[in-house]
Amino acid sequence: MNVLLTGGAGYIGSHTAVEIMRAGHGVVIADDLSNASEKVIERIEKLGGKKVYFYKIDVCDKAALDGVFALHDISAVVHFAGKKAVGESVAQPLMYYRNNLDATITLLEVMQKHSVNRLIFSSSATVYGIPKTVPVDENAPRGCNNPYGWTKYMSEQIMRDACEANKDLAVVLLRYFNPIGAHESGVIGEDPEGIPNNLMPFIAQVAVGRREMLGVFGDDYPTHDGTGVRDYIHVVDLAQGHVAALDYTENNSGALAVNLGTGRGYSVLDIVKTFERVNGIEIPYRIMPRRAGDAAVIYADSSLAKTLLNWEAKRDLEDMCRDTWNWQKNNPNGYRS
Ligand code: WQD
Repeated sequence: MNVLLTGGAGYIGSHTAVEIMRAGHGVVIADDLSNASEKVIERIEKLGGKKVYFYKIDVCDKAALDGVFALHDISAVVHFAGKKAVGESVAQPLMYYRNNLDATITLLEVMQKHSVNRLIFSSSATVYGIPKTVPVDENAPRGCNNPYGWTKYMSEQIMRDACEANKDLAVVLLRYFNPIGAHESGVIGEDPEGIPNNLMPFIAQVAVGRREMLGVFGDDYPTHDGTGVRDYIHVVDLAQGHVAALDYTENNSGALAVNLGTGRGYSVLDIVKTFERVNGIEIPYRIMPRRAGDAAVIYADSSLAKTLLNWEAKRDLEDMCRDTWNWQKNNPNGYRS
């Protein structure tokens, strides 16, 4: 079958495209390249072993998106397209609500027109906000602390309501914890625009000499070493979770939320020390004040993914650190020449 990936040229989208192709499906990518490089398309084809149909469009452009569905017999969609910088969302909430919710509604409308009823949504653990207890399962209270998180939460609700109105629609809401790492080939990886917001790409840029040192946001949290604890998951494990979710939509309908995490929490300094040990590189750092909105500890209960999707993470923290560095050292400036 042909699978449309909106935002498929991005970090998680590109890794998912490769795994979907390796599972025997065709891939069509619609991406406005606002946070991705067109160079990734040829690299996805190299790893996936067949042509990718790519369209540089804004998913909010209904006529353009409709045109993609008219050109290809799309059976399922994976929806990645959206703005995703937490800090930017606080500064520009209306742009975030307009872009992310408009993209979701436009996609659902075009899918309905073309009778496409299988959808995987790139949601996020950010919908849990600062959890009261860990591990976090899918029934944990929701409550976001930034507009980006609310757009994920609201998109989930829009999809749930669409499933109530159309009993043939199947939606899997994948709540990612902290995706890091890169394809083992080092051909694709994470290449954020500007100063990285997230921990691992910042570490990788320190390692390759693009940044002087890492700022550790707080060492006074109630954790084993005072730094924040997260559930880091290898991006290829995450990508394979999307293939499992696509398989699930073949014989199921309705909306299903599923955590994609490892169930293990690591601190910031755990990540730094593992990266240093595995790659033989020192990562200089300094302790900074806490970052507003950060949780002390969050990690997943991913048992539902195992039960319903027959999926679990296979790669460990050493794999994540090794594959991150393999990508960054072979692509010091990411996809830029
Ligand atoms: C991880 C830990 C920081 C950077 C975010 C989004 C979430 C999802 C994943 C999209 C925290 C610390 C970080 C740095 C640091 N993205 N840190 N120095 O905040 O858990 O989740 O990315 O869906 O929605 O909220 O990830 O990588 O930013 O932070 O000390 O330069 O690393 O305080 O403890 P986070 P992160």
